[in-house]
Amino acid sequence: MSVRKSDLYNYIPMSIKDLNKIYDLELESYDFPWTKEILRDCILYKYDSFSVFFNENLVGYVIAKITYPETHILNLTVKKNFRKKGIGKSLIELIISEARLRSSENILLEVRVGNFEAQSLYEKYNFQIIGTRKNYYESENGREDAYVLKLDL
Ligand SMILES: CC(C)(COP(=O)(O)OP(=O)(O)OC[C@H]1O[C@@H](n2cnc3c(N)ncnc32)[C@H](O)[C@@H]1OP(=O)(O)O)[C@@H](O)C(=O)NCCC(=O)NCCS
Repeated sequence: MSVRKSDLYNYIPMSIKDLNKIYDLELESYDFPWTKEILRDCILYKYDSFSVFFNENLVGYVIAKITYPETHILNLTVKKNFRKKGIGKSLIELIISEARLRSSENILLEVRVGNFEAQSLYEKYNFQIIGTRKNYYESENGREDAYVLKLDL
């Protein structure tokens, strides 16, 4: 993993006791955030999700569903002033390793067609565009399309 240069970064399974912190980070990261109830259900229904703390501060999280044969990454978020430090890469690598361990054959995710930062991150791991979902996301100007990306494991 790229980021663990310091023990100050702590990657842990997402816990219900951190729900408020996760929701706060979700709110500050997206124009159209997930609701607290969706985040809570992802934790309670045991999605494969991890939080990253820097000291006591939540600085990122990933929520995925790892199954055979397919894994789905549903949410990947890094706090603004902690971006471009490799945390996003580390979270993706965590899911790739867990998915491989559990014999998943591929990873799927959706990304806004206008989200170039995230697309550049996924390209680094060789995710390929396999389709487009029309009007998948809410946006300022109505709806925005999503690319569907796939990584064969
Ligand atoms: C996308 C996101 C998770 C990346 O997290 P991050 O911790 O900054 O990512 P990393 O530092 O690990 O960067 C990895 C790669 O992502 C790409 N990337 C990240 N930020 C970028 C930027 N501002 N511009 C261009 N490329 C960027 C680069 O390819 C980068 O590799 P490099 O450092 O070798 O250039 C983060 O920007 C974020 O939380 N964005 C808002 C939420 C979001 O869009 N989530 C994804 C939904 S699909």
